[in-house]
Amino acid sequence: MNYRHAFHAGNFADVLKHAVLARIIEYLKRKPGAFRVIDTHAGIGLYDLSSDEAQRTGEWRGGIGRLLDAALSPDAAALLAPYLEAVRALNPQGGVRLYPGSPLVARHLLRPIDRLTAIELHPQDSLALGAHLPPKEKRGLVLVDPPFEKEGEFDRLAAGLVTAHRRWPGGTYALWYPVKDRAAVAAFRAALAGTGIPKILDIALEIRAPSPDPRLDGCGMVVVNPPFVLEEEMAILLPALREALGEDGARGDARWLTPK
Ligand SMILES: C[S@@+](CC[C@H](N)C(=O)[O-])C[C@H]1O[C@@H](n2cnc3c(N)ncnc32)[C@H](O)[C@@H]1O
Repeated sequence: MNYRHAFHAGNFADVLKHAVLARIIEYLKRKPGAFRVIDTHAGIGLYDLSSDEAQRTGEWRGGIGRLLDAALSPDAAALLAPYLEAVRALNPQGGVRLYPGSPLVARHLLRPIDRLTAIELHPQDSLALGAHLPPKEKRGLVLVDPPFEKEGEFDRLAAGLVTAHRRWPGGTYALWYPVKDRAAVAAFRAALAGTGIPKILDIALEIRAPSPDPRLDGCGMVVVNPPFVLEEEMAILLPALREALGEDGARGDARWLTPK
């Protein structure tokens, strides 16, 4: 396996993923009871954006770099605050040299009673979550963020969700996916719509119009059992992210794949 997230840390795809992750965690914190976050593809957790890998692609400049410089509306700034605080906590000098991966974003936001399970390079398919579901807290989030470097990742993601949801129907699931192969994305959405799992919200941010050659033009987060406020929050956040990170032809949409 060759995937190294250090090349991509802090790019627009991380921004969408980590902003949504932070919104879901903030919602879970509204109730006093403990919850658990299970991060199935956690990565290394902390990224140095001055490293060779990050500098070589410079992807973070178009993501967190641009977001930190953006003029945000007060509403968008308030919704992004928990995520951006996790970034700023690592960079007390200002700017952004260190960038938190998903487990660090989560850890920054969790309360002492909440729990994080971070899984990286599990010998078996990390979607075989059987041993972890349902968590004893009976509340929480499963973040699934695979590298998408092997064929069949969309199929595994959908199949893994069906299995996990059967074990723990009440959990919230957030699945990241790339918008690169449009036919594969359409098939993935159709497969999810056909699972019979209710309450699937599809959040997509496309930072440019479709490129002629395959390129990461956007990404999405499929959220099962989203917080009831998430759709409304996305109606504020997606235009703000599109404005801050997008080029001509950018768009952001949240729509239900199955009824809420
Ligand atoms: C997109 S990155 C994750 C980034 C991380 N979620 C974040 O937001 O900071 C995908 C990660 O999955 C890891 N990985 C690949 N196959 C895996 C597997 N079967 N189980 C768990 N992790 C795996 C890779 O090493 C890589 O770090």
